Amino acid sequence: MDNHHSGWVPPVPFEGPSGLNRPGFNNGTTMTEKDIENTILAFGKAAADAKRLGFDTIEIHGAHGYLIDQFFNPETNLRTDIYGGKTIKERNTFAIEVVKEIRRQVGNDFAVIMRFSQFKPSDYNYKLAKTPQQLDSWLTPLVDAGVDILHCSQRRFWESEFENSDLNFAGWAKKLTGAPTITVGSVGLSGDFFGAFAGESSQPASLDELTRRFDRGDFDLVAVGRPLLSDPNWVAKIKAGKTEELVGFSKEALSELVL
Ligand SMILES: Cc1cc2nc3c(=O)[nH]c(=O)nc-3n(C[C@H](O)[C@H](O)[C@H](O)COP(=O)(O)O)c2cc1C
Repeated sequence: MDNHHSGWVPPVPFEGPSGLNRPGFNNGTTMTEKDIENTILAFGKAAADAKRLGFDTIEIHGAHGYLIDQFFNPETNLRTDIYGGKTIKERNTFAIEVVKEIRRQVGNDFAVIMRFSQFKPSDYNYKLAKTPQQLDSWLTPLVDAGVDILHCSQRRFWESEFENSDLNFAGWAKKLTGAPTITVGSVGLSGDFFGAFAGESSQPASLDELTRRFDRGDFDLVAVGRPLLSDPNWVAKIKAGKTEELVGFSKEALSELVL
């Protein structure tokens, strides 16, 4: 097994832009143009199905090394057709076509979120966009194609995205595109979620830094993962100011039913 989650997932048939689900691991097949066309249509159909079933929004997963992110990343997208290229702008083509097809099938009056990450599960320090200009050329065309809200995945929301500014990923994404953003990453916790995969615990942490950034207008929404796995009343406790009742996160929360 060569999976990055230390053997969580057994080997399965896999296809991607160049048959690599992470750099150097040529363990799948390369998508043909027909595969790509079918996949774009399938994204659109899935979104339309979600709308028809009564959901208020859909989130396109463009982060964490999943299919769309494999197209973004030059190390897993080695294509020489219109879906590949040296620049982020060129490697954006697949994602833009997915967004346009979703928008075509759900219409204008339906919120579309898209999730992005700079890091890859195979490289936590990876930065696809190394400068604000590159981030702009990555995200703005996707907003123009029809994404309403950008979900900017980070391991620790308080970390600056680029030098000479304390703006985080969501802060930069909002500043550059003007679109609403979601921040995420260790909100209310002392340690990040990759530590959780390794069995590390995290303690409750202050929300002051989060609210400072929120009040400044850096982002519009906040996503929370592990605190809700530990404590379904987390939001209610935060709302009521009962911070002394917050509990930390430990790996047992992944296997326990918390009532
Ligand atoms: C047990 C667990 C499983 C996760 N699985 C996924 C996943 O399948 N896909 C994904 O994109 N993110 C996954 N994440 C990451 C979360 O979506 C979220 O970005 C991350 O936990 C950071 O939020 P937190 O610090 O509030 O937990 C997972 C996180 C945890 C703790």
